[in-house]
Order: sequence, then C-alpha cells, then structure tokens
Amino acid sequence: MDKIVIHGGRRLEGEVQVSGAKNSALPLLFATLLAPGTHHVGNVPDLRDITTVEKLLTVLGARVVRENGAFTVDATPIQSVEAPYDLVKTMRASVLVLGPLLARLGHARVSLPGGCAIGARPIDLHLKGLEAMGAEISLDHGYVEARAERLKGATICLDIPTVGGTENLMMAATLAKGTTVLENAACEPEIVDLAEALIRMGARISGAGTDTVVIEGVEALNPLEIAVMPDRIEAGTFLIASAITRGDVLVRGAVSAHLEALISKLREAGAEISEEGGGLRVKGPNEIKSVDIKTRPHPGFPTDMQAQFMALMALGSGTSMIVENVFENRFMHVCELQRMGADIRIEGHTATVKGVKELLGAPVMATDLRALAGLAADNTTEVSRIYHLDRGYEHIEKKLKGLGADIERVKE
Ligand code: UD1
Repeated sequence: MDKIVIHGGRRLEGEVQVSGAKNSALPLLFATLLAPGTHHVGNVPDLRDITTVEKLLTVLGARVVRENGAFTVDATPIQSVEAPYDLVKTMRASVLVLGPLLARLGHARVSLPGGCAIGARPIDLHLKGLEAMGAEISLDHGYVEARAERLKGATICLDIPTVGGTENLMMAATLAKGTTVLENAACEPEIVDLAEALIRMGARISGAGTDTVVIEGVEALNPLEIAVMPDRIEAGTFLIASAITRGDVLVRGAVSAHLEALISKLREAGAEISEEGGGLRVKGPNEIKSVDIKTRPHPGFPTDMQAQFMALMALGSGTSMIVENVFENRFMHVCELQRMGADIRIEGHTATVKGVKELLGAPVMATDLRALAGLAADNTTEVSRIYHLDRGYEHIEKKLKGLGADIERVKE
C-alpha cells in the first residue's frame, strides 16, 4: 500500500478547489435504480467508494459509463436484486440499494455490512422503517432479504436521526402507495441534495433539511440529471489545514451554510474566515486558542471533522474538551496524535486535549486522522495505511502540494 511522507512546518498558501461530495454522490448514484432510462450524474469524485458503486450498479445489471467525473447510468435493465458481500464489506453505504430496489422491483437482497472501525454501526432503523412500510424482512446467511409487492406510506419516527436511514427510507417512499412521514429525520445537506434530486425525478417531497420529511408516493419516476454538490468535509479539512499551519488559503467551493458549526469553532480558535471568490478564505491564527466541541447530527459539529479539529487543538494554547456523541469508538486517531507528542486523555466519549507547543513528526497510521497533524509537525511524518485518506479525499496530496505543503506519496 502507498504511504504519504510529509516534511512539516510549511505554511499553506493559495487556492484549492473542493471536489464533489462523496456522501452525496453515493445516494445519488443509487437513486438511479429507482427509474428506468438514462441518468446523468456529474461532478462525481474519483474515489474508491465510487468505484465500488460503479461495480455494484453493474452487478445489478445497469449499464454504467464513467468519464472524467461524469456518470451515465442506464438503469433500464436490472437483472439482479442482490448486493453481494464482497462489495458491501468494502463499503457499508451499499445498503442504500435496499430502498430503491425494493421500491422499484419489490425485492432486494443485501449482504449485512460487517463490523466497522468506528463502532458497530447497525442498520436496524433502515429495516424497521421498511417494515413499517409493509416490507417483509428476513435474515438469511448474512443477507437481508426484503420483499413487498408495493410499499405503503407510513409514519416513521426514527430513534436516531440516521443519515443513511433517512436516505434509504426517503428513496423507498418515493414509489410507495400513499404518504410517508419521516420524523426525527437527519437534516444533513446531503439529505437536502438527495431530496432535490428525487424531486427533479418527479418525486413529491417536502421538509428535507428539517426533522420532518413528508414523501407522497408516485407511480413512477424519470431519469436524473444532476451535478453533485461540493464536499463539505473536504472543504472543512482544508479550512483546518490552513488554520493549523497558520496559513492563508482560499477554499473554492466551500459553502458556508454547510459549515456553520465548524466556522464558528475555528473563529473561536482565532482563525479569520471570510466569504470570497466562490468559497471561504481562512487565515490561521498566530496562537491557536483551545475551544471545546461536542459532535452532533447536523447542524451540530460534524463527527467527520472531529479528528481534524483534534489535531488543531493538540497545538492549542490551553485545554480543549472534545466529546464524540455520534459514534462509539471514534477516537482511534488519538494514539497516533500521542505518538507525535500530543497530550490527550480519553475518558468514555470525552477526550481532554492539553495543547503542546509543537508536534514532532513520527511514523503514524492514517486511521481517521487524515494527515493534518503532519503538516504542522516540525519534521518528517510518515503516514501509512492511507486507505482512509484515499476513501475520503480526491487527490489529497496533489491538492496540499499545490498549497505549498512538502508532501509525497511513495510506494511502501
Ligand atoms: C453517514 C456518513 C458518515 C457520517 C455519518 C454521521 C455517508 C455515506 N456516511 O454515515 O460519513 O459520519 O453519516 O454524520 O453518508 N445507527 C443505528 N441504527 C441504524 C443506523 C444508524 O443505531 O439503523 C446509529 C449509528 O451506529 C451511529 C448513528 O446512528 O451511531 C449515526 O449513524 P448514521 O447517521 O446512520 O451514519 P451513516 O449514514 O452510516
């Protein structure tokens, strides 16, 4: 596997363009299963998970052409309703085929996703919701099998505002008979993006982006034509990268409305952030102030930015409390930061981060850390197991290099 070698201590400067959002591209590509015909999805990032979606759509029988970030999907010929284990195990978002296949074809068989590095991550709420809509669900040899002649609208109150669950049920409900009300629904921008796409396909949806989404089922949908929105997690990571290196970076495509919680915490930490040139410009502070964060579903502080923010807080002037509320066991990056000299203690869901004057380069594994600390470290950081980086970030080292980072990908 490749590794990334960073000679730290460079200030990042210049402009960087944010890619299309992975977490939006995944449900949009699966939504193509809802309607026969030829769909076009543009601004799709070049990432491993996207290749997995391409394989999965192809296994199901769709004809997929992928060219320079644009997908053409002919979803007319679906020959299989099974998402096999070898694809689902590499990407748990594969469970998002369940809703669309069940809604259009009345049958879906999806391998249960295996364990995952950030906790158990069950899909019970997806299944309970589909059952409430009349699906018969059974488990067989590690597969979830779901059947329903036609799904029926239902009122479903989610125990947790699950992002994937909201997406799956919203897609399923578009073709159900009658009206579905999703209560305690997730409000993430990716939900709004998916709802807008489904509406363009002919679905009747209101309330996306609030905690109550109402979907009036229709008989059939039309093909989709859409470009994926910018990735708010990638954007947020560049905002922090600029702050941690005391840099001055314009992050093009960063949408402030998607990043309010992070922006406000970065400002508290001393960064200057302004809207400029179709994006956000961040000037890093001379002294990073320590601030507390608690991760929460949107519009709260995103769990997907927790590790990066902790890297910043490792260099803070005081003590920061970081509470992870969304996932159990999402502190794997702490050991790696400690190996670079960070002073962090964990108790339950809380990490107490006492800022240190400098971080030292060290060989580390990427886990969830995403290499940011290495940018600020004094000497060389070697990041191995960059699997997670490659999953979430398109051409990360090229983009950081363009901002002046001394960073290289080497074969291990
Ligand atoms: C999505 C994002 C991921 C992000 C997460 C939370 C994608 C592809 N991934 O993941 O990057 O970190 O939202 O913002 O969009 N849960 C249950 N039962 C369920 C479903 C979820 O208990 O049926 C729990 C999970 O274990 C977790 C919490 O709910 O503790 C939130 O998970 P969820 O919102 O579903 O995350 P994902 O959709 O998997």
